[in-house]
Amino acid sequence: MNWNCGSRHGHERQTPVRFRRFSLIHRNPSTLGVAALTLLTLASASAQDSTIRAIQNIFDPLSAPAEILYRISLLVLATCAIIFLIVAGLLTYAIIRYRHKGGTDDLEEPPQVYGSAAIELAWTVPPILIVVVLVLVTARTIGEIQKPKLPNDAEQVRIIGHRFWWEVRYPKYDVVTANEIHVPLSDRSKRIATEFVLESADVIHGFWVPQLNGKTMLVPNHTNTMWVEPYKTGIYLGNCTVLCGAQHANMLIRVIVDTPERYQQWLNEQKATPSNDQAVEEGQRQFIANSCGACHDIGGTNAKGVFGPDLTHFASRQTLGSGVAANNEENLRSWLQDPQELKPGCLMPNMKLGDKQVQSILAYLRTLK
Ligand code: CUA
Repeated sequence: MNWNCGSRHGHERQTPVRFRRFSLIHRNPSTLGVAALTLLTLASASAQDSTIRAIQNIFDPLSAPAEILYRISLLVLATCAIIFLIVAGLLTYAIIRYRHKGGTDDLEEPPQVYGSAAIELAWTVPPILIVVVLVLVTARTIGEIQKPKLPNDAEQVRIIGHRFWWEVRYPKYDVVTANEIHVPLSDRSKRIATEFVLESADVIHGFWVPQLNGKTMLVPNHTNTMWVEPYKTGIYLGNCTVLCGAQHANMLIRVIVDTPERYQQWLNEQKATPSNDQAVEEGQRQFIANSCGACHDIGGTNAKGVFGPDLTHFASRQTLGSGVAANNEENLRSWLQDPQELKPGCLMPNMKLGDKQVQSILAYLRTLK
């Protein structure tokens, strides 16, 4: 029997979507840049910047704490490079200068040196000074990163790691979402900081968006914090960085940096109750009847589950399955037919929905803007 029980209901599988699911993420950055520029020109100021900032390294910081880390990494790298050049240079010099030359060379003993204050001081004092300087600079950096002086009106986002997705809460605004974290753009002259309060619902996860800040763990029964202060709008990509189970690699992070106006607009949209469209009433009924509400919350309905992502404004998100696929009709249909197809090992089981059920729930979810 076909392992995919969708076929029990006699429908054809859709074209496999898994090979296309990264298309959102792995695009040519230059094409994206051009596309984003065009978009920016065409769109109003409050539209979202869709530039993908996918650089997964620390050498292109676009946020205040990432810049601090970048500066200290340059200092440490430069110090190590200078030490390497001096040591390697002296070694090369000695190898060439005192190489085997034949003749009387084999018979003569080199000059024997016993005790030299100059040499002893040279290889003791500078290394100690280097270590002291690096310790002081590192200590100051740790202070700046771990105990920042954030503006009083800093935004706060609570991020809770789950296998294998991110719960995202904005306590001040009573907004709950998942996987896509909207934060406001900062300005060097007028700081707008966002503090992330990081927790875990199950095992240890790691939060890392290299262009925004360093890596921070999400530990069960413990709260960590970090902060971001981004200088450019766009979509910043990151990953869970601690092996947390089968779908660890697909526990993707999207931080969407909006202009303060667009950010407010997004908050207002998220605060609103989703429209209760009569045309998709059947989908809502099926959603509740098939116990989807035991795991998912949809504002204004009887669905009040907390184990899975809040779906109140599901259709407003760019991706589904924590970034595993673009949030379009085709992928959503595949997900409803069997989530294990797109994300094998994820904790949502195959609900064995029939064709009609899939269609009505799909239509309903697509209205949750
Ligand atoms: Cu969560 Cu790896």
